Amino acid sequence: MQQHVIASSSPNPRPRARDLSAEEIAEIEHELTLYPTKQAVGLEALKIVQRHQGWVSDESMLAIADYLSVPVSELEGVATFFNLIYRRPVGEKVILFCDSVSCWIMGCDKVKAQLSAHLGIDYGETTADGEYTLIPVPCLGDCDKAPVMMVGEAMHRHLCVDTIASVLPLKNVRGDK
Ligand code: FES
Repeated sequence: MQQHVIASSSPNPRPRARDLSAEEIAEIEHELTLYPTKQAVGLEALKIVQRHQGWVSDESMLAIADYLSVPVSELEGVATFFNLIYRRPVGEKVILFCDSVSCWIMGCDKVKAQLSAHLGIDYGETTADGEYTLIPVPCLGDCDKAPVMMVGEAMHRHLCVDTIASVLPLKNVRGDK
């Protein structure tokens, strides 16, 4: 049922820089007023483009590198280090599932198994309907309410196997939204 895996760069031969939109440029220009060097704006520029495009394609990566006059390899390094820069298309909602100590202790492995069974995807995959992408993350900072995950902007705490289906409704099941 999975669609694709988030991994490293695209197999497209020789991608070319796309044109950044006016909105993207305006936001990057704003960041340039806040940081001492163009290099320092790399991560913020990646986040801006991701916010507008949903993910950072090779073409977007090249466009940012051109705009900031930084080596694309340097920008790739930033994107790799900051694992919430998506280098493949993601679903409408990204699930950030905490995969760290306090959540382990509170049984997140069972919740994760239920979640994967419910959605039919594993880490790095997107549901066939394009609704959800599942990504493991280190501590989400809500350890006393473990296990936790974020779905889009919403944090879900005290997760348990029985509530996964209601937290993550499937669009195509009985018309659920
Ligand atoms: S370990 Fe899961 S929120 Fe901190």
